[in-house]
Amino acid sequence: MLSVRHLQASYGAAQVLFDISLDIGAGEVVTLLGRNGMGKTTTVRSIMGLLRPHGGEVRFEGVRVSGLPPYRIAQTGIGLVPEGRQVFPTLTVEENLVATASSRTGSRRWTLDGVYDLFPRLKERRGNLGTQLSGGEQQMLAIGRALMTNPKLLILDEATEGLAPLIRVEIWACLKSLRSEHQSILVIDKNVDALAALADRHVIIEKGRSVWTGTSAELVADKSLKDRYLHI
Ligand SMILES: Nc1ncnc2c1ncn2[C@@H]1O[C@H](COP(=O)(O)OP(=O)(O)OP(=O)(O)O)[C@@H](O)[C@H]1O
Ligand SMILES: [Mg+2]
Repeated sequence: MLSVRHLQASYGAAQVLFDISLDIGAGEVVTLLGRNGMGKTTTVRSIMGLLRPHGGEVRFEGVRVSGLPPYRIAQTGIGLVPEGRQVFPTLTVEENLVATASSRTGSRRWTLDGVYDLFPRLKERRGNLGTQLSGGEQQMLAIGRALMTNPKLLILDEATEGLAPLIRVEIWACLKSLRSEHQSILVIDKNVDALAALADRHVIIEKGRSVWTGTSAELVADKSLKDRYLHI
């Protein structure tokens, strides 16, 4: 479904991505792992066209999307839950959700009710402004908002960062339920153990290069990977 090949990207003169390759199949949950500053967010921004890669390519369902403007890439069916959530602060929960709704058919047709079923808490808060939500509720809203675009591929950048343990568990449970509906997901998160249970495959990046890829069983079996690439 998504194929990233030898991606290179820079901020001005500073090259950050040197050689990133990864694949996500339909219905697969894949993680992007790596320590702080290794280029995870930059990889996601390059996939979405928010940063224009200067080498390599990104293909989505066989079509080259690298080089297209971000809105065109989003229209092909990739939904992003960005780092820092970025909900619209002056809109209510419901307005936030409706603002991104799209009629395009994806793996499932998401409606307000569907999002409220997934996150009953958002239904209770439907009239509240973005600024009046807790961090966990904002994260649920950011996920709900991305789902309302009916993405074929959902990308989450640090979905549980800074959240209380119980809320984290709730977010992971939501991803698990999406997975059972065959939603393709690329997830960035630092909680490797929780992700090993959730994901099919993992890609580790180190200083702008994808250096390892494997299954959850392989990740858990090789303790040296954690020491080498993931310990903060
Ligand atoms: N807007 C920017 N301008 C210049 N350099 C940047 C910019 N954003 C990130 N960088 C640099 O690019 C490198 C990769 O950053 P990136 O945010 O992709 O890392 P990350 O793996 O997502 O880290 P984290 O786990 O902290 O979110 C870092 O060295 C960072 O300082
Ligand atoms: Mg990041």
